[in-house]
Amino acid sequence: MTENPLRAPALAVFANAYAPYSNFKVGAAIRTDDGTVFQGCNVENIAYPEGTCAEAGAIAAMAASGARKITEVYVVAEAPLPVPPCGGCRQKIAEFAGKDVAVTMATTTGQELKMTVAELLPGAFGADHMADT
Ligand code: THU
Repeated sequence: MTENPLRAPALAVFANAYAPYSNFKVGAAIRTDDGTVFQGCNVENIAYPEGTCAEAGAIAAMAASGARKITEVYVVAEAPLPVPPCGGCRQKIAEFAGKDVAVTMATTTGQELKMTVAELLPGAFGADHMADT
């Protein structure tokens, strides 16, 4: 099977993760509708709650460039099992990705688990819930 093209950029940014407190590095790569790939890694802080996730970093880079539509997500960590995005990151991904967008969770050794945004965040809070009816 051919390697997912987002794996290499996710692994490259994984190497730059700043995780001295958890010792758990994460890398994320996201593709946008025009094919551009954005990378993010987790960046921790001595004030622990101030750390940010890899997915949040990639999304921030994407939004800063002006892009708004995620078409694919890849997350990699050095873990025994593919690591799913945390709850907050699921909502952040859903802000810019359709329900059918694929999120591949992977380990550095090559295990992969692929799910859709809707599978990761069923019953998501969305714009419809705020519509003035
Ligand atoms: N982390 C991510 O960056 N993404 C995930 O999908 C799961 C968790 C980070 C947050 C923290 O720096 C470390 O992993 C341990 O929770």
